[in-house]
Amino acid sequence: MTTRVLTTFWRFSSGFKTPSQKILTTHLPSSQISTATQASIFEPIPREELVTKFKSRLRDRQFLPGSSGGGFPEFLAKPRDSFPLGVRVNNRNQSSLAELTAKCMEYVEENFPHSPAILFRGLPAKTAEEFSIIAQAIQDKTLTYEGGTAFRSQVDKNAGIYTASHEPQNYTIEPHNEMAFNDLYPSKLFFFCLKEAADGCGGETPLVINKEHLSKMDPKVVRKFEEKQLRYVRYMSDKSRGEYMNWQHVFTTENREDVEPRAKQQGYSGITWDANGDLYLWKKGDAFIRHPLTGEKIWFNQANSHHGSYYEAMPTFLGTEIPDDKFPCHTYYGDGSAIEPEALQHIWATTWECAVGFQWRSGDLLVMDNLAVQHSRIGFTGDRKVLAYLTA
Ligand SMILES: [Fe+2]
Repeated sequence: MTTRVLTTFWRFSSGFKTPSQKILTTHLPSSQISTATQASIFEPIPREELVTKFKSRLRDRQFLPGSSGGGFPEFLAKPRDSFPLGVRVNNRNQSSLAELTAKCMEYVEENFPHSPAILFRGLPAKTAEEFSIIAQAIQDKTLTYEGGTAFRSQVDKNAGIYTASHEPQNYTIEPHNEMAFNDLYPSKLFFFCLKEAADGCGGETPLVINKEHLSKMDPKVVRKFEEKQLRYVRYMSDKSRGEYMNWQHVFTTENREDVEPRAKQQGYSGITWDANGDLYLWKKGDAFIRHPLTGEKIWFNQANSHHGSYYEAMPTFLGTEIPDDKFPCHTYYGDGSAIEPEALQHIWATTWECAVGFQWRSGDLLVMDNLAVQHSRIGFTGDRKVLAYLTA
């Protein structure tokens, strides 16, 4: 990686969990998905309704790590039959939003094993306040985003909802499982579309099935990550220095004494402060987990999306010179050796090969099994707003 010097910065985070839900085995067509609730208020959305009018380009896309290297598909693929599973909510009984949310969650529990990404359309919700009602009606344990790495802001502290991302909007965020780098990660992830991007302006939320991604990977690359594991390193400046990411924001505290126990809880074994009051963290971890219900081996890490190359491709960092230890995050193999450029390119290409995009509509609620599905964001122009909520 090149050595670079930091200029402008901004970013953030916080949150997490342990797995607690039902999960994926194989994907069935939506016609085979049967539930008691489906017959009453839920009906499948025709796949054509989820297909975007324009295809977003991936190969040679500006501000997309690796897109000019080998193996990238030319365009983002369309949704498949049941990925994501689109469901229209018919409110025939004029139920409240909270009651409908409870029904949706029953539906999720019944269908997640086959469909780990479910898009609900037609809920009587359009605003952030209504997403708060949805979040508060979900019975799972709410997780904060403390310790996270994305730049997010809290929209409703009581309900635990955040903006999805404040990364520069022309930047395309790589697919990842939310907080997979952390010992405490969400098992479910909820996105709510406040405003869809205009046709042809990007802004899709591409989805990737982890199991499929692993099946596309070169066994030699997989074996190396199995043997060596991963090392995550992070750098957070003191807030007074005004850099991209500061530890006060990440750990939601002004006190250094609060940081160490919280960092340890998240699995960091290396915690160092320098004379400027800047914080350095590192940890070693597996690149794979076993799904708690299916026992399936899953590619579950942020080897690429926490690598310095993620930041090098970001408009915020263009033209800057940053040493590896001053990237907000960086990854190595577990023994401290560099991940080869060709291995990174392979991960990027195979991820995007599996990615599908779908058409957001304002008011849509997307529920994902965070252990089974990666999510991302295509860079966009114009206005587009998505909110996030995380649960254990
Ligand atoms: Fe994310």
